[in-house]
Amino acid sequence: GEQRPRLTFLGTGYLGATYAVCFAELGYEVLGFDVDAAKIATLAGGVVPFFEPGLDEMLQRNLAAGRLRFTTSYQETADFGDIHFICVGTPQRAGGMGADLSHVESAVTGLAAHLRRKALIVGKSTVPVGTAEWVERLVDKHADAALGVEVAWSPEFLQEGFAVQDVLRPSRVVVGVRSDWAGAMLYAAHGGIFDLAVTEDREVPVVVTDFATAELVKVAANAFLATKISFINAMAEVCEVAGGDVTQLSRAIGYDPRIGSRFLHAGVGFGGGCLPKDIRAFQARAQELGAGEALRFLHEVDLINQRRRGRVVQLAAELLGCPAGPVGPYFDDARVAVLGATFKPHSDDVRDAPALAIAAALARAGAEVHVHDPQGMPNAARAQPQLIFEDSLDDAVRGADLVCVLTEWAEFRTADPAHLGRLVAARRVIDGRNCLDAAAWRAAGWQYRGMGSRAGEAEAAAPVYRPPTPRPATAPVAAG
Ligand code: UDX
Repeated sequence: GEQRPRLTFLGTGYLGATYAVCFAELGYEVLGFDVDAAKIATLAGGVVPFFEPGLDEMLQRNLAAGRLRFTTSYQETADFGDIHFICVGTPQRAGGMGADLSHVESAVTGLAAHLRRKALIVGKSTVPVGTAEWVERLVDKHADAALGVEVAWSPEFLQEGFAVQDVLRPSRVVVGVRSDWAGAMLYAAHGGIFDLAVTEDREVPVVVTDFATAELVKVAANAFLATKISFINAMAEVCEVAGGDVTQLSRAIGYDPRIGSRFLHAGVGFGGGCLPKDIRAFQARAQELGAGEALRFLHEVDLINQRRRGRVVQLAAELLGCPAGPVGPYFDDARVAVLGATFKPHSDDVRDAPALAIAAALARAGAEVHVHDPQGMPNAARAQPQLIFEDSLDDAVRGADLVCVLTEWAEFRTADPAHLGRLVAARRVIDGRNCLDAAAWRAAGWQYRGMGSRAGEAEAAAPVYRPPTPRPATAPVAAG
């Protein structure tokens, strides 16, 4: 077949490691680079240093096939690759809202200084708009000008827990390029993805655009998703005082294809390593560019999201009859089981996780908090060592005065409320994700509270009137 370019991925964190493994799986010769020797040794030994379904075995298979290797050497990386993907982290800057680009800077300069032939450097990290041009200037400064090294930008849209699928079968490929050569190189780099799509009779839309648009696509997509979640959580706040039920409201508006039902689940709000940080960095960058007003609503999106966490603490206090203290309710050693620590299921990531933040807030307010999570325990224990971590769901709920389900793991959704009811001190449950079968829990004697209804009680109440299933029209219906 056609000649495939050799690919390197700089930064073997979540993004880079996933990409390196998946592109090797597609048949490319791949080299992963990181400055962290321990991380490189782990990956080279066939172990993925984070939890991502399916990735471990894919890593081992491609190491064995010899298509995938790892290194800490810039020289080896520079000599190996035709295309170098920059996948390092861009954390929130200490003491600010903007993104910290120091890892991007060191990866680009380290690589550029060692290049000995023409290559394409492609940014994948989520960055403030304008970064690609700045990377181009860095390359001009540090690479041998005679080589003609070029820069491009190609954002990624990985969701943790679905990352393998998202790389191999992307919803779209976006590339920001300045030359036909860069465009052709990136097209070749995605050949494996296009071929796979053809065999599966799918299409992968490609958007070829300028640097600024390519950079903005990523943050715009995340800002939209965050806004959608906060929108439905704002409706939850209204339902809580008006006596509506946000779950039914969400279903009802989600059937409109212009709105869509996905990312419209109210609950404890969004967390993770991307959405919260990205909407803050986006605001900071817009401010710098003089478009701060345009993104002022993202501040509200953030505030709505933060209020969801407080709402759970408030519900807990109501259920337990806790007295109000000077800075909020006081839980006086009430024993609370928190089920879930990660920011979402299918992940071991606890960064900015609502579940863990709520657990910590309850503990600060005097509760004895017992946490269980199917995948997130090691990370959670490192982040909040003052909490009590239990190895099983049963151990976490035993003796509890209140159970809070804060991450919608299947293990919690399918737990038997009658069985759990025999373990607790009192049958009170807060369903922070509206993910439990409220009727079944109530039938098992639980006092149940969901999110987004008055006192959390209205949801799933049987409709007074059950409409008949509409029959399909047999004849055209006259308008009017
Ligand atoms: C997100 C984007 O989806 C992805 O495209 C981007 O590349 C990185 O950021 P991720 O952080 O893995 O991915 O998580 P995602 O599945 O988007 O969930 C984010 C948060 O929103 C989670 O805490 C989740 O529980 C919450 N969420 C999601 C809701 O509260 N309600 C919803 O309806 C959907």
